[in-house]
Amino acid sequence: MDNKKNPWLMLSFFFICLSLNNRLSLGADTISANQSLSGDQTIISNGGNFELGFFTPGNSSRSNYYIGMWYKKVSLKTIVWVANRETPVSDIGSSVLRISDGNLVLFIESQIPIWSTNLSPTSSGALEAVLQDDGNFVLRDGSNNSSKILWQSFDNPTHTWLPGAKMAYNNRTKQNIRLISWKNFEDPAPGIFALELQQNTSSYVIVYDKSQLYWNSGPWDGKIFSWVPEMRANYIYNYSYVSNENESYFTYSLYNPSIISRVVMDISGQIQQLSWLESTKQWNLFRSQPRTQCEVHAFCGPFGICNQQSLPFCSCLKGFQATSSNSWKLSDFSAGCARKTSLQCGNDSLANGKRDKFWEMPNMKLPQNPQTVAFGSSSECESTCLNYCSCTAYIYGNHCSIYVGDLLNLQQLTSADTNGGTLYLKLAASELSDSPPSKKSMKLLLIIGITSVIVLCASISMCIWQRKMSKRKENRQINKRNQAHRMLHGESHVQELIDLGELKEEDEKGLDLPFYDLESIRVATGNFSDENKLGQGGYGPVYKGKLPSGQEIAVKRLSRVSGQGLKEFKNEVLLIAKLQHRNLVRLHGYCIEGSEKILLYEYMPNKSLDFSIFGWLLNLTPTILASMLC
Ligand SMILES: *[C@@H]1O[C@H](CO)[C@@H](O)[C@H](O)[C@H]1NC(C)=O
Ligand SMILES: *[C@@H]1O[C@H](CO)[C@@H](O)[C@H](O)[C@H]1NC(C)=O
Ligand SMILES: *[C@@H]1O[C@H](CO)[C@@H](O)[C@H](O)[C@H]1NC(C)=O
Ligand SMILES: *[C@@H]1O[C@H](CO)[C@@H](O)[C@H](O)[C@H]1NC(C)=O
Ligand SMILES: *[C@@H]1O[C@H](CO)[C@@H](O)[C@H](O)[C@H]1NC(C)=O
Ligand SMILES: *[C@@H]1O[C@H](CO)[C@@H](O)[C@H](O)[C@H]1NC(C)=O
Ligand SMILES: *[C@@H]1O[C@H](CO)[C@@H](O)[C@H](O)[C@H]1NC(C)=O
Ligand SMILES: *[C@@H]1O[C@H](CO)[C@@H](O)[C@H](O)[C@H]1NC(C)=O
Ligand SMILES: *[C@@H]1O[C@H](CO)[C@@H](O)[C@H](O)[C@H]1NC(C)=O
Repeated sequence: MDNKKNPWLMLSFFFICLSLNNRLSLGADTISANQSLSGDQTIISNGGNFELGFFTPGNSSRSNYYIGMWYKKVSLKTIVWVANRETPVSDIGSSVLRISDGNLVLFIESQIPIWSTNLSPTSSGALEAVLQDDGNFVLRDGSNNSSKILWQSFDNPTHTWLPGAKMAYNNRTKQNIRLISWKNFEDPAPGIFALELQQNTSSYVIVYDKSQLYWNSGPWDGKIFSWVPEMRANYIYNYSYVSNENESYFTYSLYNPSIISRVVMDISGQIQQLSWLESTKQWNLFRSQPRTQCEVHAFCGPFGICNQQSLPFCSCLKGFQATSSNSWKLSDFSAGCARKTSLQCGNDSLANGKRDKFWEMPNMKLPQNPQTVAFGSSSECESTCLNYCSCTAYIYGNHCSIYVGDLLNLQQLTSADTNGGTLYLKLAASELSDSPPSKKSMKLLLIIGITSVIVLCASISMCIWQRKMSKRKENRQINKRNQAHRMLHGESHVQELIDLGELKEEDEKGLDLPFYDLESIRVATGNFSDENKLGQGGYGPVYKGKLPSGQEIAVKRLSRVSGQGLKEFKNEVLLIAKLQHRNLVRLHGYCIEGSEKILLYEYMPNKSLDFSIFGWLLNLTPTILASMLC
């Protein structure tokens, strides 16, 4: 009988539950041996920091429920731990979490176990499960005060690492504690990215699909992990690393325990350190590793292409489409893309079809491990790939190299990057027939047409130039507004954190940032000319500048009237350095000279953040047009 559909059965079941089970009283922090948790009941840690009960993740319309833990004091429901991450339940009325045979067990239909702490059964009677105020959910002996911990959520984390928990390697059981990302926003099941301790090198690594290591913290040098220098200039987190014959672990605590902070192995494949600011009602990213999204191994999946300058970061190569558009919508790109039209190569039924062709993709960060084929001309290289059906692309530099099978880790570089290469992607002829002319033929057209165009060029270029100038002005206005917005946005966080008073000035810890002298900043900004002024922030004006290397920077000149002392200035530098985030401005350097205190930020043109077709066209079209015509 389907008890979900019979209200009477449900009701009587409910009363049986009530009379047989000692239900939890609201606000308790403990599930004792004779109690159970079900329905919308929760337990709350005794200081009110954490709450535990059933939840549904994300915006999921499916009725998938999980036992999870979240912050009681954070207004945005943020799950930090999930019990049954692989086995959701659909009816929370008949699902109960209770202690059974020396374990904490989740039952569906009141009796079928679907999740358990999996300890070998013990006879010791009076166990209890306590939600502690540090976010550790502990199963222990409740009969006396010895408090022997049998199981704890800190040793069985999902994707979140809370302050006080250890990321450990147990040298006796040879077991690792791992953070494993969720599959997507709506599914807490183990995803493809994991953070773990690599004991033999005493470093942390992020691993793709249990095998491919793509980020490494470098070894612990006594104070920090050597390839994470940001850890040095730090006044918020107290990191420590311990290694002995029994275990090795890394842990952290907060100097100011009132700050709410967590580390997550995110579905983006990045490990993120976040802090909650109630006034902004959002989590603020202090740090992420790897620093950029496109460094995450196979983030866009096979035949996907990553672009750091666009949102979403992933798209499919020409001639390919998302394998699962649903999971792409949920920011899970791992399945990548599939061919829209199969290749002619190797398909006899297409023997009379057109031969496959190649699509030229300039300025790409190329996939690893090409197979070097032979020396020879580029057309020999092309025909090698054409005739070898498993070949999906080739590159031709000093010699010919081909790629066999899935293309992973393709990245579109910006025109400023010089270390890119050109990839020739094999596609069915029909995928290329209706496409706009390739760059090669465009060049050819230009050469043919150039003699006739040359007469008109003077007048056209005059017109283009005028248009370009007016568009540029528009662009500059938009960039100015965005830059000023980001500056102000960043500042509010900084001010708030300063107000929190969490920063301690410890002068022996230096600033891990390049220093610039005032003279070179004057040169870069045209002596702080009004022409280069981007806007006015709370602390002072912001200028656009250009370093001798050609890099564009935004320069914040802190007003002398703001009365900021050296100490406060250093704090701000440290804080912004910590707040560095792809959605915030990146700090590039600083300058202190006399009464001048200056911060140098990376200059972020409009398109890198607020990407839209409109903004993109506005930024690129006039330049492209002009360069093509003249
Ligand atoms: C449940 O257990 C607690 C402590 O173990 C005890 O104080 C209480 O009387 C028990 N309640 C029932 C209904 O058995
Ligand atoms: C959930 O829905 C809201 C509103 O529709 C949206 O703003 C938010 O981004 C969604 N969250 C996720 C994780 O998809
Ligand atoms: C606490 O209880 C456990 C099991 O019930 C028992 O083995 C242990 O001796 C007790 N400890 C004390 C100090 O009573
Ligand atoms: C446990 O400790 C508390 C105070 O620390 C005490 O009040 C209580 O009686 C103790 N319980 C047992 C069973 O020893
Ligand atoms: C450390 O161990 C891993 C396997 O756990 C192995 O792949 C790696 O090569 C080892 N590194 C060193 C330096 O021994
Ligand atoms: C930092 O952490 C270590 C180890 O957990 C601890 O011994 C030390 O007291 C902490 N320092 C501060 C200032 O909290
Ligand atoms: C781990 O245990 C083995 C013996 O099982 C021992 O030889 C080794 O030194 C231990 N590792 C550390 C880091 O102490
Ligand atoms: C390692 O474990 C053994 C057995 O539990 C214990 O005697 C020893 O003190 C432990 N060593 C350290 C450094 O904690
Ligand atoms: C060959 O092409 C036909 C027609 O497009 C298609 O239906 C078939 O699946 C292809 N076979 C292979 C092995 O790709």
